[in-house]
Amino acid sequence: MTYSKRRNSALKNNPRLQTYFDGEDQRRIATRTMFDRAAGGYDQAERIMALGSGAWYRRKVLRRNGLCEGMTLLDVAAGTGLVAAEGHRLIGPSGRLLALDPSPGMLSELRKKLDVETIEAYAESIPLPDDHVDFVSMGYALRHVGDLDLAFGEYHRVLRSGGRVCIMEISRPKSRLGQLVLRSYIRGVVPFVARLMRSQADVKQLWAYYGDTIELAIEPECILDALRRAGFVDVECSVTFGIFREYLGRKA
Ligand SMILES: C[S@@+](CC[C@H](N)C(=O)[O-])C[C@H]1O[C@@H](n2cnc3c(N)ncnc32)[C@H](O)[C@@H]1O
Repeated sequence: MTYSKRRNSALKNNPRLQTYFDGEDQRRIATRTMFDRAAGGYDQAERIMALGSGAWYRRKVLRRNGLCEGMTLLDVAAGTGLVAAEGHRLIGPSGRLLALDPSPGMLSELRKKLDVETIEAYAESIPLPDDHVDFVSMGYALRHVGDLDLAFGEYHRVLRSGGRVCIMEISRPKSRLGQLVLRSYIRGVVPFVARLMRSQADVKQLWAYYGDTIELAIEPECILDALRRAGFVDVECSVTFGIFREYLGRKA
């Protein structure tokens, strides 16, 4: 497999990924198909998989990092709208929300909940003008980005001066014990609960991919470096319970 050699991918090059796709073009098609098919069952699956990082956590992170009333928010990888819905509450009726995602299936679920502008596109190529938004959010999708330099370059371009980027992601814990607990959860508890809930095959495949991509994600330091390379300042990462990470940056 060659794609992570050619691009600054958020995933390490590993043969395990070939179970899902081989190469960047295939990755895009495979992940879009996976999300399209799982869209209807995504919210229920997320409640189990996301280790409790539900609505309250997403809202808390957005608020803590400066999203407030009246802002224009671009939520990248909006999916069914779990981050977008919380952002929508915080920016209020005077704010503007743009929800971007490449999966038409996920966006169609989002539109059932939120009456907002949706954009069918990838993080690596955002069809918006320069200096257009006050805040860019992205929840639990960094591992699906094929080229971090392109994506972060786009975030920087569409943000107004002083605007912030806030990326939420689950990462491998540093400690061996933490890694063991997470692996057991992903490989043992999640499939067990999936069987109990009689999840569809499409949702099960998404869960397997979810676990593999957490294990094969590049190190957090590489993500911070990519944010700096894109031009962001005040770049930092905070960690909750050794698993939930927030990558932050500001456009000067
Ligand atoms: C795990 S879901 C996250 C949805 C939502 N942000 C949340 O917090 O639940 C990942 C989403 O990323 C989207 N996605 C995959 N590749 C992407 C890319 N390159 N750029 C933007 N979004 C992407 C998928 O279509 C999917 O809707």
